[in-house]
Amino acid sequence: QTTLADLAQRHGRYFGSATDNPELTDAAYTRILGNEFDMITPGNGMKWYATEPQQGVFDWTAGDEIVNLARANHQKVRAHTLVWHSQLPGWLTGREWTADELRAVLKNHIQTEVRHYRGKVYAWDVVNEAFNEDGTYRETVFYKTLGPGYIADALRWAHQADPRARLYLNDYNIEAVGPKSDAYYDLARQLKAQGVPLHGIGLQAHLALQYGYPTTLEENLRRFARLRLDTALTEVDVRMLLPATEEKLAQQAEWYGDLTRACLAVRRCVGITVWDYTDKYSWIPAFFPGQGAALPWDEEFARKPAYYAIRDAL
Ligand code: XIL
Repeated sequence: QTTLADLAQRHGRYFGSATDNPELTDAAYTRILGNEFDMITPGNGMKWYATEPQQGVFDWTAGDEIVNLARANHQKVRAHTLVWHSQLPGWLTGREWTADELRAVLKNHIQTEVRHYRGKVYAWDVVNEAFNEDGTYRETVFYKTLGPGYIADALRWAHQADPRARLYLNDYNIEAVGPKSDAYYDLARQLKAQGVPLHGIGLQAHLALQYGYPTTLEENLRRFARLRLDTALTEVDVRMLLPATEEKLAQQAEWYGDLTRACLAVRRCVGITVWDYTDKYSWIPAFFPGQGAALPWDEEFARKPAYYAIRDAL
């Protein structure tokens, strides 16, 4: 049977899923993961806390397991993520740093990790979640210590370490045109003008039925394409207030179809990744209590209306 990956490939796109190491012992889970998708993202295994648990001591166990599985299944990897304020190791958050110290720490982290995965990953989310909702810079340890230039530096360091990897900035709530996506648009234009190696913008697309569909998604993808940037929907899920009803699942399906069509309508939208594919392993119930049922397969691995809507759109 044709898979989502097969259908996406007919459009020159990929269809991916995030995954996480603990789930990989579930054979029913890995069967679909290996068959249906042609792009894989480690949900946690390449984050700073996992890869550099002590300063200068690197651990590739979790990330390598997923890269090796992807290779065995002939899948590409979107690597996630190098610079982020969340899921940092205690040694980094637990003390103060001078700018020179933190710059050296950041450069070493980026270059060591990107070098380790050189030639093995298609793309990197270099900086994750750099802006607030109003388009101001998020006051992370990196911003506060190094100023906004940390983003250009991170991109340059990553590019030196793997000149072939596609380098992205990635964030949530930037699917629609608005203050936060405008901040990315303006920053991306500046970075391109300065010759900084930036290749794409990742729109996480953690959508929620109760907040409405981002109707300007296609228009937003188009304006980044005009800057000669790729875009990707990198962490898609469509959550709802539980319990799930037939009506909510139908609306969710419509949204999955709509976002798939929006990506296909814009040449430089290179692919779609769901933030895991089954409700069994979704991060939503733990992070948004009372919400869930966000993914195209249910907890028993049955295909939901959302799955069929994606198929129809592809
Ligand atoms: C989530 C993971 O899925 C969870 O397992 C983890 O506990 C927290 O992070 N935006 C991102 C992802 O960029 O890294 C987050 O992943 C979800 C929100």
